[in-house]
Amino acid sequence: MTEMQVARSIGDLRALLAPLRAESSIGFVPTMGALHDGHLSLVALARDAAEVCVMSIFVNPLQFGPTEDLARYPRPLDADLELARGAGVDVVFLPSVDEMYPEGATTTVVPGPVADVLEGAHRPGHLAGVATVVAKLFNIVDPDVAIFGQKDAQQVAVIKAMVRDLDFEVRIEVGPTIREPDGLAMSSRNRYLDIEQRQRALALYEALQAGEASLRAGGSPEDAEHQMHEVFGAAGLETDYAAAVDPLDLSSPATGDVLLVVAARVGSTRLIDNLLVKASQRGTS
Ligand code: PAF
Repeated sequence: MTEMQVARSIGDLRALLAPLRAESSIGFVPTMGALHDGHLSLVALARDAAEVCVMSIFVNPLQFGPTEDLARYPRPLDADLELARGAGVDVVFLPSVDEMYPEGATTTVVPGPVADVLEGAHRPGHLAGVATVVAKLFNIVDPDVAIFGQKDAQQVAVIKAMVRDLDFEVRIEVGPTIREPDGLAMSSRNRYLDIEQRQRALALYEALQAGEASLRAGGSPEDAEHQMHEVFGAAGLETDYAAAVDPLDLSSPATGDVLLVVAARVGSTRLIDNLLVKASQRGTS
C-alpha cells in the first residue's frame, strides 16, 4: 500500500482489509496512542513479520480503574498519525468508545490465574479489560501476527494464555523493551513526569539492575527482591511490588529463569518495568 489509510468504524476497517487479506499477511500492533520509539519498534517487527501493517489507536476505558488516569491519558492524535505514517503503518484503526462498546455490550473476557497477581492484584479489572479489548481487536482485524512489548510482561502472558485457551488463530510476537539512553523504559506515561520526577523514575531500572546483579552473584530470588526494595527505599519511591517471579506463570518463587518485575509511583504517576535473568546467567559473576 502507498498512502496510509485510516478507518474509524469496524465496517470500514473490514472493507479496507478484505481485498488485502486475500493476497497478503496481516501484522497488527495494538496501541493506546501517545506513540514513542517503543511502539515504533513494534511496527518494525510487524513489517518484518507480515506484508500489511495495521495499528489500532484506542484508549480503552475498560482497562482503567475508577481512580486511574483515563481522562488525562495523552491523546496526541495528529502527532501519532504522523509517527505511524513515518514508521510505515499501512492502516490505522481509530475507533470511538461507542464503536467498540455500543450500548448494551456486556460480554467480557475473564483471564486465568496469571492475571490474579502483580498488576492484577493492584489494578483490579485491568487485565480483564486488556483481554476483552484485545479479543475484540483480534476479531475485528483478524491478523496473522500481533506484536506486543515485553515491557508489559504480564499483559503478554495474559494474551498468550487467551490465544491458547480460546483458539485465536494469531501468532503472538514480543518485542524487547526500548529504553531511554539512561535506562528508563519508554512509556506513554513518562509524559506525566516533571524534570525532578523523571530523574527519580530511574530508580525502577536501577532496582532491576540491582536485582540482576544479585542473581548474577549467586543470590536467591529473595535476595534479589531485597536488593530491589533497598533501591526503592533509598530513592523514596512507593512500590506496589518488586518481585522475582517465574517468567511463564508470574508466580513466586522463581526457580530457573527469573523475571524481575517492579511497579512504583513517582508522584501520581505509576510506572512498571521488568528484566529477565536467564538461569544460565545466575551465579556467573
Ligand atoms: O499495551 C497497550 O497499549 C494496551 O494495553 C493494549 C494492548 C493496546 C490494549 O488496550
